[in-house]
Amino acid sequence: MTDYAEVDPADPSSEVVATAAEVLRRGGTVAFPTETVYGLGADALSADAVTAVYRAKGRPASDPVIVHLADAAALDAVACDVPGLARRLARRFWPGPLTLVLRRSAAIPDVVTAGRDTVGVRVPRHPVALALIEAAGIPLAAPSANRFGRISPTTARHVRQELDGRIDMVIDGGPCPVGVESTVVSLVGEPEVLRPGGVTLEDLREEVPDLRYRRRVTSTAPTSPGLLLRHYAPNTPLLLVEGDPGPVLAQLAAAGLRAELVLSPADRPQEPATVAHDLYARLRSLDEASVDVLLAVTVAEEGLGAAVNDRLYRAAEGRVVDSSDPGAVERVVTTLRPRS
Ligand code: TXA
Ligand code: MG
Repeated sequence: MTDYAEVDPADPSSEVVATAAEVLRRGGTVAFPTETVYGLGADALSADAVTAVYRAKGRPASDPVIVHLADAAALDAVACDVPGLARRLARRFWPGPLTLVLRRSAAIPDVVTAGRDTVGVRVPRHPVALALIEAAGIPLAAPSANRFGRISPTTARHVRQELDGRIDMVIDGGPCPVGVESTVVSLVGEPEVLRPGGVTLEDLREEVPDLRYRRRVTSTAPTSPGLLLRHYAPNTPLLLVEGDPGPVLAQLAAAGLRAELVLSPADRPQEPATVAHDLYARLRSLDEASVDVLLAVTVAEEGLGAAVNDRLYRAAEGRVVDSSDPGAVERVVTTLRPRS
């Protein structure tokens, strides 16, 4: 049985937070809101507790989880050989949606890091997340609170759809303000963005001018399993359209396929941050609409647009079509089947 409790996101009730903190200290699993997406938390220092998180999500043991701290002062308890650059980025961007990959400390069990010698760490800025970590008095290992490979949850209702009955508790603190996950930056070796996210590349490059980011990089044996091609995916196939989606819609209709637009050219003038905020809720509700295919256009690769385009690319499993090339559209259409 999963317990649900609502809190005011700006001023979380100490009673709910105290109950959840107790569940976590006893080795249980609690989903909670962060500024990015809902996380599924467990005691990061307990291998058994973190194993329960992997089990609930159906997550492969090869994918490491992020450790959440209440304060950068706790960094040396979970990481070692922390470079000066990490402290500088922490001062500027924490609390906030930035995850730093650092050398791990011996206190962190193997299951958290998937056996690697590095650990991903962040200090979230959501008041509920901070209150919970503080009350629990332990670092929290917390992946996004969804089944593995699925769309990340940005409301407690999404968490219920994904994990009801599989975890101990859900704290409902309303919708997540950012809507896409944290930016993951490796500081082991040359600084590199492993996943674009809530802190923009532009802001990061003010501190690290030569910060590396490889757009649309995918791998089956990646430095970060977040680079898997199929990730953040709806059940309905999604096509990413370059150019005007009109001709693609017409070709789909001619093939007897029903399509819905997740993002259309009319959405392009919106702020990337607004698109990011609504992206996962939109994908989720259109996924429930029983259509054959979802279409999306990319947004400008600026600000949170880099994260939006990255998630759409992975949700599309790399299916990108150029609408001015009917042959390319045709080839993709033949791989799609109407939903029965
Ligand atoms: O915004 C977020 O980061 C959310 C909230 C809950 O904090 N969490 C989240 O966790 O998105 P998850 O597990 O869904 O994604 C973590 C990403 C994955 O791509 C994982 O491969 C990468 O971080 N990661 C974690 N530890 C790593 C490590 N030691 N080395 C490389 N990548 C790592
Ligand atoms: Mg995830």
